[in-house]
Amino acid sequence: MNRSIIKSTSRYVPDRHVTNHELSELMDTSDEWIRQRTGIEARYWVNAGDDLGTSDLALEASTIALERAGWAPTDLDLIVFATMTSDVYVPGSGVILQHKLGAEKVPALDIRQQCTGFLHGLELCDAYIKSGKARKILLVGAETQSRFLELNTQNRDTAVIFADGAGAVCIEAEETDEETGILASVFHADGQYADVLRVGVPARKSGPVMNAEVQAKQEYLPYMDGKAVFKLAVTRLPTVARELLEKAGMQLEDIDMVVPHQANLRINEAFRERMNLPEDRIFNNIQRYGNTTGATIPIALDELMEKGMLKSGDNVMFIGLGAGLTWGGVIYRLP
Ligand code: UT7
Repeated sequence: MNRSIIKSTSRYVPDRHVTNHELSELMDTSDEWIRQRTGIEARYWVNAGDDLGTSDLALEASTIALERAGWAPTDLDLIVFATMTSDVYVPGSGVILQHKLGAEKVPALDIRQQCTGFLHGLELCDAYIKSGKARKILLVGAETQSRFLELNTQNRDTAVIFADGAGAVCIEAEETDEETGILASVFHADGQYADVLRVGVPARKSGPVMNAEVQAKQEYLPYMDGKAVFKLAVTRLPTVARELLEKAGMQLEDIDMVVPHQANLRINEAFRERMNLPEDRIFNNIQRYGNTTGATIPIALDELMEKGMLKSGDNVMFIGLGAGLTWGGVIYRLP
């Protein structure tokens, strides 16, 4: 049977390191508030004047991942790009990345599932591999969210959280009878919460996309009902984690590491407590990167690999919840 194996991982963040202190000079916030309420100590943003889009960050991460896998861009059967901050609205960043990589004629598609985009990508790649439709896939999660943030007190809830970055993995089909690679995945969506986290532009209104009302209401910026998302996350993540374990025929004790989406350290702490999970079996790095939406999971995975914190045979649970509402997870066993 074909199994989906992660051959290589990588991450890339832009140069500009933004501390909480820097933000507190731009809006009414403080290092103490941001640390206590979110866990974030610093994040990376592209320089405001740099001509860099999401595909540029993705290109850096992808080049490293391909090199580590020993693959040329033209070896790929598919590129999957998870982002909510595509370079332009149309076309998606997948094709832009494909061209920048020189992956001539390789099909490229985008996943617009925000915080769960990369997780959906893992499931999609697994389906392509298990069905025999692809053998070598590049899956990227990347964001340049700083372009969508207004650095003032009115928008401080989103300004202090969201960040830029990219992570990539090369996934390969391996013919084996061993239970390895992507073992199980579970996803849910609930569109009744579509308004709790959204960017209202474009296409929702009649008339021109950028009309006076849209400008006045700042609908081109992300709107987030943080409290609502928080409550949904702390209740639904444990539930879906249990569904995922059941589907994989595992107990929580079988999971060596949980890699949750990095939206807020308090959400992940609440998840850990509700699951009764020891501290050393969950990985958080939001302190150093902020919330990079589609990129949080591959960035975390790359850090874990780099630190030697995962070994052959380990079971890893990736899990997340975000705009949509969408939530779910994947269990992966290292070969
Ligand atoms: O990955 C995408 C999915 N997104 C999420 O998962 C986000 C989930 N939600 C959250 O992370 C949290 O709700 C936030 C970090 C956004 C907000 O934290 P909170 O503990 O829920 O704060 P709050 O919205 O209840 O606000 C508490 C107070 C308010 O002031 P008053 O009304 O009590 O006077 C806010 O105006 O904190 C104020 N506040 C801030 N103060 C300083 C909100 N943002 C800030 C800020 N700095 N940046």
